Amino acid sequence: MNNLKNLRGTVDLLPDQLIKWQNVEKILLEQLFRASIKEIRTPILEMTELFKRGIGEGTDVVSKEMYTFLDKGERSCTLRPEGTASVARAFIQNGMSSSPLQKLWYMGPMFRYERPQAGRQRQFHQLGVEFIGYESVRSDVEIIALAWDILRKLGIKELNLEINSLGDFNDRSNFQKSFSKWLEINKNSLDVDSQNRINKNPLRILDSKNIQTKKILESAPKLFNFLSEKSLERYLKLKNQLEVLKIPYIENFNLVRGLDYYSHTAFEITSGALGSQATVCGGGRYDNLIKQMGGKDTPAIGFAIGLERLILLAGNDLDVSRRTDIYIVNQGLIAEPFAIDLSRKLRSYDLLVELDLSGASFSKQFKKANKMNSKSIVVIGDKEAANKEFVIRLFDKESSGNKEEIIPFDSDIKLEQWLNNNLLLN
Ligand code: HAM
Repeated sequence: MNNLKNLRGTVDLLPDQLIKWQNVEKILLEQLFRASIKEIRTPILEMTELFKRGIGEGTDVVSKEMYTFLDKGERSCTLRPEGTASVARAFIQNGMSSSPLQKLWYMGPMFRYERPQAGRQRQFHQLGVEFIGYESVRSDVEIIALAWDILRKLGIKELNLEINSLGDFNDRSNFQKSFSKWLEINKNSLDVDSQNRINKNPLRILDSKNIQTKKILESAPKLFNFLSEKSLERYLKLKNQLEVLKIPYIENFNLVRGLDYYSHTAFEITSGALGSQATVCGGGRYDNLIKQMGGKDTPAIGFAIGLERLILLAGNDLDVSRRTDIYIVNQGLIAEPFAIDLSRKLRSYDLLVELDLSGASFSKQFKKANKMNSKSIVVIGDKEAANKEFVIRLFDKESSGNKEEIIPFDSDIKLEQWLNNNLLLN
C-alpha cells in the first residue's frame, strides 16, 4: 500500500484546502452569472487529432506535453490539455452556429506533461471563457475587463495586463518571411531551445526567456511593424477602449502565446505575487480556429485562468468556512434515532447542522461542539427523547443559559420561533 502514491504533478485537495477553492469558485460563478455567460461541459478525453489540428503540432503543448494513449479500440485519445479546442469542436458538432453569438464558460481539470513546480502541475484546473461569433473590438474589451474584474474581485493585487496584436494570417506570413531570413543569419547565436523552434514554431522564439536570445532578438524584425492598416487600427481601438475603462496595460510586442490558433489580440495577466510561474490568465482572439476545424467562418475570443495560481493569490479571508449553526449532542438508544430525524428537519431550514455520531459521553460531545465553534447546540438524551422533546441553546458563553429552550418534537411553531430569533434572522 505504501507504494501507492498519486502520480507526480497531480495533487490531492483535502477538505481544509477545499474551503478556499469552494469560496473562490462561488465568487467565480456569481461573476459569470452576472455577465450572462452560460456553462458548457465537454469531455475530458478527446480524439488526439482535435488538439493536433486545433492547437498546432509545432506547439510545446502538442509536441511534448500531451497525455496521449491508445484505447482498447486502438483509437488515439488525449486528456485535454486546454479547453478552447474542445469548445470549438462542441460548437461545430452540436449545431450551435445556428445562433452564432455564444458566451460560454467551463471549469475543470486539464493535463500537461510539464516539469512540476510551484504553480505548475501535470493535472491542473482552469476556468475558461469563450465568446464565439463576436468580432468587434468591444468583445476583446469585454473579455479582458471580465478577466481583470474577476481577479480584482478575488482581492488579487500586483496585477499586470500585457497586450499585443498578432495581426491576421497575412500579417503574420509577411512577418515570417522576413523573420526567417533574419533567423537564417542569426540562428547560431540563439539558445538551443530557440534553434529547435526555427522549423517547428518560429513565432515562439520571440517569447524566449533566454537572456542572450532576448538581446539578439532586439535586432530582429518586429511582428508589430508588419500589421496591416486594418489590424493596426483594431489594436489602437483596443488600447483606447481599455484606457476609457481605466484598465492599465503594458504593451509587450514579444507576447505570442504558446498555442497556434491566435490572431490579432493576445493578452496575459501576471501577478508579481507569484514566483516564476507568474501568468494567472492567458487569452486572445482565434478567428480562424472554427473554420479550420471544419465549421463556418466564426470569429471568437477567450481566456483561461489557472485555478491553482488563482488560489495561491486569492485573499486569505477566503480560507474561512461557514460556521456550524447547530451541533446535535445525543446519546442513548431512544435518543439517537430521534437525533437523526431532527437533523433532517433542521437542515430543511437551510441551516448547517452537525450530527454527532460518536456515541461518546455528553461532555466529550460538548467539547467537540465547542471546538467546532458551533453557534448553537441541541441536546437529546434518553430522558428528553422519552418526553418527546429536546433542549436547544446558543453556544456563545455570554449568552448561554438565558436562551435555552425546551422544544417538543412536534412543535414546529416553537422551533421556528427559536430559530428565527436566534439563528435565521441574526
Ligand atoms: P494557456 O496560457 O495555455 O491558455 O493557459 C491558461 C492558464 O492556465 C495559464 O495562464 C496558467 O495560469 C494556467 N496553466 C497552464 N498550464 C498550467 C500548469 N501546467 N499548471 C498550472 N497552471 C497552468 C490556454 O489554455 C487557452 N485555452 C486560453 C484561451 C481560452 N485562449 C482563448 N480562449
